[in-house]
Amino acid sequence: MAYDAAPVSDVEAVRAAIRPGTTKAVWVETPTNPLLNIGDIEALAAVAHEAGALLVVDNTFASPYLQQPLVLGADVAVHSTTKYCGGHSDVVGGALVVRDLELAEAIAFHQNSIGAVAGPFDSWLVLRGLKTLGVRMDRHCDNAEQVVDFLTRHEAVTHVYYPGLEEHPGHVVATRQMKRYGGIVSFRVSGGEQHAVDVCGRAEVFTLGESLGGVESLIEHPGRMTHASVAGTELEVPSDLIRLSVGIETGEDLLADLDRALAGG
Ligand SMILES: Cc1ncc(COP(=O)(O)O)c(C=O)c1O
Repeated sequence: MAYDAAPVSDVEAVRAAIRPGTTKAVWVETPTNPLLNIGDIEALAAVAHEAGALLVVDNTFASPYLQQPLVLGADVAVHSTTKYCGGHSDVVGGALVVRDLELAEAIAFHQNSIGAVAGPFDSWLVLRGLKTLGVRMDRHCDNAEQVVDFLTRHEAVTHVYYPGLEEHPGHVVATRQMKRYGGIVSFRVSGGEQHAVDVCGRAEVFTLGESLGGVESLIEHPGRMTHASVAGTELEVPSDLIRLSVGIETGEDLLADLDRALAGG
């Protein structure tokens, strides 16, 4: 399978990357991991459909509570249920949500043939998580907003990535298609890669970890962890970048932890 990467926030670049007659699917994340770029789902659906391709939206960062890609014209919504749907970092799974019955049947056929079927206990854990999705997401967003406010005013922080910020280039689109802006916040620090790694190592309430979307806050260095494998490609991330999955703890505890981690002790 061949693919071409294009910036999700640039509809014309996505259109140009489509190979007419060959491209079967336009696969996007919005917000993206870890730079929180925003793609306009309605516009991308139009571009994909003009070319006879499906629009697949990885909705993991937003969750179904904050964004509903099928309503906006997407053909498939993808969720890593490991993340917000499960919500407690105790299950690994995924879900494809589609509108079209024929597509659902084609996917179910492959799922059954390949054997990629969730076990009963894993399914139960995700179902239980979904019952509290709305209240968890509101708390994730409340805490993320506090963290963003703190980071944007911190002298050791050079850039904050969060679609809720008015200056974020995707803010207007995010406001149109999302209920709120989610619990993931990325930021860059002065002092380069080593400082970023040190900050990750000093945090205590934020546990060092690659996952996201659970009730507990996690911190990671994408360049050395989740995105180490894309170094040297067009998907490479800045080396002074830190990604936070802001949990549902007391906001003050999270700010105190970041303050200590950024200060150096
Ligand atoms: C946006 C997004 N989609 C999909 C995945 C894959 O999830 P899983 O670990 O459940 O395979 C991840 C994992 O980090 C992710 O961040």
